Amino acid sequence: MGKIRAAITGVGAYLPDYILTNDELSRMVDTSDEWIMTRIGIKTRHILKGEALGTSCMGVKAVRDLLEKKNMNPEEIDLVICATVTPDMFFPSTGNLIAGEAGCKKAFAYDVSAACSGFLFALTTASKFIETGTCKKVIVVGADKMSSIVDYTDRKTCPIFGDGAAAVLLEPDEEGYGVIDHILHSDGTGAPHLYMKAGGSRYPASEETIRNNWHTITQDGQAVFKAAVSNMADVSVEMMERYNLTSDDIRYLVPHQANLRIIDATANRMGLTRNKCMINIDRYGNTTAATIPLCLYDYEKELKRGDKLILASFGGGYTWGSVYVKSVSYTHLRAHETEADL
Ligand code: UT7
Repeated sequence: MGKIRAAITGVGAYLPDYILTNDELSRMVDTSDEWIMTRIGIKTRHILKGEALGTSCMGVKAVRDLLEKKNMNPEEIDLVICATVTPDMFFPSTGNLIAGEAGCKKAFAYDVSAACSGFLFALTTASKFIETGTCKKVIVVGADKMSSIVDYTDRKTCPIFGDGAAAVLLEPDEEGYGVIDHILHSDGTGAPHLYMKAGGSRYPASEETIRNNWHTITQDGQAVFKAAVSNMADVSVEMMERYNLTSDDIRYLVPHQANLRIIDATANRMGLTRNKCMINIDRYGNTTAATIPLCLYDYEKELKRGDKLILASFGGGYTWGSVYVKSVSYTHLRAHETEADL
């Protein structure tokens, strides 16, 4: 018997119906489709509308989609980890709310907060529960309602973000597939460049925090851009070197979708062409913890058993990392499908 690894054996997703276009944004702030497309690469983003609907509402729908595709009873799930920076509330955790609503009655659940790297941090954590044999079926959800913390009068940040959720199922694999390795980093000195000042214990909501607009994202775009380009590429190349992987060996880079220029720079350093990058930033924008699983969702039909993927991210914290995954082919099989349907 080989080493137990955590294989991604299913993926589900949810994107809210409302589509915010660059044209609509141009009527809200002084911007243009041309600027947003050339500087970031975003055409549209989905926005969750509706009274009292939080991140968990999208997470639940992603989990239900996943369970339906796998024809799986929610009570089979041992653990639910949700990566998010826009939790429904401080407590209970959004993972807890998702697990409860989705009927994962036997699972324990919690959140991981690592901003745009949240999914990779949560995936790595979840994979350890599988590798040790503690859990057999784990769901990792990446979900964010970024529209709840975006200032739609700030042209520097409002075009960037969107809402969405996606969930992956992890199960044990002993044939050499699954999550092979991770390189994760944090650097708290990056905090002043990307943060939301109020709403936590340091500055609880008050008249002052609202007057000063401290409940929305503050970003020094250029500082984050520079750090993202170098760090995301560094950890991706480091992973390639660790496993003697050439650009030919890699089927896909699965990058966090913050800026098409950051994705291109990372791919270039890895010697990869665009057609080896999963890209959906044009349609969804930056959905923070949801970007990477949304890519896995959109490209699931492309994946074959043994495909080598490098997942990579950079984001607030700072946090960044890369995860090396050897894909299994049944990621996209629906209940009625067989390998012959591929
Ligand atoms: O996922 C979390 C991690 N976040 C990131 O990875 C984001 C990293 N940063 C970026 O992606 C980019 O820095 C931004 C997309 C945020 C900004 O792009 P940029 O090319 O760095 O623009 P900039 O901030 O240097 O601004 C250039 C110009 C400025 O005008 P002046 O001062 O040169 O006259 C801005 O005022 O573009 C102006 N500008 C805009 N113009 C039209 C800034 N935002 C806009 C806008 N529309 N929306």
